Amino acid sequence: MTSKFKDVKKVTTHVLQEMKLKGEKIAVLTAYDFSMAGILDESGIDMILVGDSASNVMAGNRTTLPITLNEMIYHAKSVMKAVGRALVIVDLPFGTYQGNSKEALNSAIRIMKESGANGIKMEGGREIIESVERILSAGIPVIGHLGLTPQSIHKFGTYVVRATQKEEADKLVEDAHLLEEAGCFGVVLEKIPADLGEKVTNELKIPTIGIGAGSKVDGQVLVLHDMLGITQKFSPRFLRRYHNLREEIRGSVQAYIDDVKTINFPNEREQY
Ligand code: KIV
Repeated sequence: MTSKFKDVKKVTTHVLQEMKLKGEKIAVLTAYDFSMAGILDESGIDMILVGDSASNVMAGNRTTLPITLNEMIYHAKSVMKAVGRALVIVDLPFGTYQGNSKEALNSAIRIMKESGANGIKMEGGREIIESVERILSAGIPVIGHLGLTPQSIHKFGTYVVRATQKEEADKLVEDAHLLEEAGCFGVVLEKIPADLGEKVTNELKIPTIGIGAGSKVDGQVLVLHDMLGITQKFSPRFLRRYHNLREEIRGSVQAYIDDVKTINFPNEREQY
């Protein structure tokens, strides 16, 4: 692994800022459980996002909307038990921060207190800025999330690339600046044109983490189950699959079934 930061004992939001300044790309993946988070951490991942994509890949929901605060805390607690080096950030789930800033602060505090995570992520710009400021003023690190924000999928009506038109692109740039001025330590940019990802990255001092936002952002994030090939129906252009784990697991399970049926398992050495 080539990283000037590989000997860093604990990645903090300040380390991410240093990475941006030194031009080192930030590698982020999602995780939702103890076993996977441990593998990611020992592999040297910089940041783990306990994303509300857990709603899709762990709970089998069609969208991220149904997952609850208690469920996010359960996932975050499991991840925190495995992680030493990586920065761990947790999504505030839909419906736990849009109401008002007091509710948002209470939700963020519950995540920090009950899971021990290092910060939270929130979707939106100007609409949620009061909540972002209130959470930040309690000393909780916040990363924003703009572009295709999956909690708003019913408003968008489609998962197509966002901010291709000037009005939406201008609002995204303005929102990114607002989040930086409020004190966010970074912004996730999802499924937007690469040149817009580059523009936001050049204008902001804080790091940008892209998912379908091109190569000129400060870091990349993917959903673990997608990049490992555990999920297979979801195939956006931005997704690179590094493995076909679904196929591998199916092969192993079928071999086990055959062994059991043919009494090939357990053998002499596998019994007492
Ligand atoms: O929930 C999630 O996994 C996310 C990433 C896709 C950025 O928000």
